[in-house]
Amino acid sequence: KFKDLANTPPMGWNSWNTFETHIDEKLVKETADIMVASGMAAAGYNYIVLDDGWMTRERDKDGNLVPDPQKFPSGMKALIEYVHSKGLKFGLYNCAGTKTCAGYPGTRGYEYQDARFYASLNIDFLKYDWCNTQGITAKEAYATMSNALKTAGKPIVFSLCEWGDNQPWEWGEPIGNLWRVSGDIYPCFDCEHKHPENWSSWGVMKIVEIRKDIRKYSGPDHWNDFDMLEVGNGMTFAEDKSHFTMWSMLASPLIAGNDFRKMSKETLSILTNKEIIAINQDKLGIQAFRYSSEDGIETWVKPLSDGNWAITFLNRSDITKKINFDFKKHTIKDADFNHEANFQKQTFKIKDLWKNKETGTTKKAFTAEIGSHDVVVLKLSK
Ligand code: DGJ
Repeated sequence: KFKDLANTPPMGWNSWNTFETHIDEKLVKETADIMVASGMAAAGYNYIVLDDGWMTRERDKDGNLVPDPQKFPSGMKALIEYVHSKGLKFGLYNCAGTKTCAGYPGTRGYEYQDARFYASLNIDFLKYDWCNTQGITAKEAYATMSNALKTAGKPIVFSLCEWGDNQPWEWGEPIGNLWRVSGDIYPCFDCEHKHPENWSSWGVMKIVEIRKDIRKYSGPDHWNDFDMLEVGNGMTFAEDKSHFTMWSMLASPLIAGNDFRKMSKETLSILTNKEIIAINQDKLGIQAFRYSSEDGIETWVKPLSDGNWAITFLNRSDITKKINFDFKKHTIKDADFNHEANFQKQTFKIKDLWKNKETGTTKKAFTAEIGSHDVVVLKLSK
């Protein structure tokens, strides 16, 4: 793979969660414009990624992929130049199988040709899906495309979208810069059951729960991807905050999946919270772990650079809860990455990040009320 293209989790926007295959150049241009004008770009979002549905149903007579001329009448090249002219980066999607999940031409057997095409378009990011892959091996298929991109020569972030069935975290590091760890997310915070219309849909906290223990495989330039964000796509304000907080704690890529043209102030305030984003983008790149889970309250911990820590209290119950965290009674150990906070020996200043308020030190117990499905996020600084 091309190295060092994603030393912090990639941030951007992807068309799939809201638009599925209903994409066109107007949508991309408006999204790029808003990304800059709204402050999203300044907050760190820079990739605009077109997911499934950008091609025609067939390759041309020479076997080349064809951007759909009805959706992109000015041409893909011009559109990418437009996105680049705004200081942003651009990504496309394809699939390791014979067809994409939505039935467009897949890359199987065309890896080197497609890679040359992407390089000629000057894209910066490729998401590579896993439908229609009967008879091929995930590791080999992704390695082939990784080599093809490398050979084509244009540095492109390689995003593996294999859904976790073949444990991409065990073999993905030399091949890609990030890999999906689950089937598709949908905007339901704590759903036990999968979405009735789509067997592969996962509630937000389901993904977290099943993949919380693969944290040692994630880090700079090789991220566990908990899927694109559903912030602004129908959950409550508290749930959106909690979802965004957890993706930040888990050092997941932060790829917005909402319609920027209809974004509320609340949604924008969540997506651009600089201090929560700083937790996600912290250069140590350590995925948080669940320190405790008691009476509906989960406590998550993420070691940060400079000996600092982030602590999140998440209320998964249906009622408001009081928390009382007496730091002196806790020593937090991260055995996977060898970090420790001993609050008897060390004192940290505390900032409540969503309240944007300094709240004393770890010498005193921290108390708060947390509404159902809401979070309190503390940054502990030396
Ligand atoms: C399955 C992926 O997991 C989704 O994120 C999306 O890319 C769709 N395929 C597109 O068909």
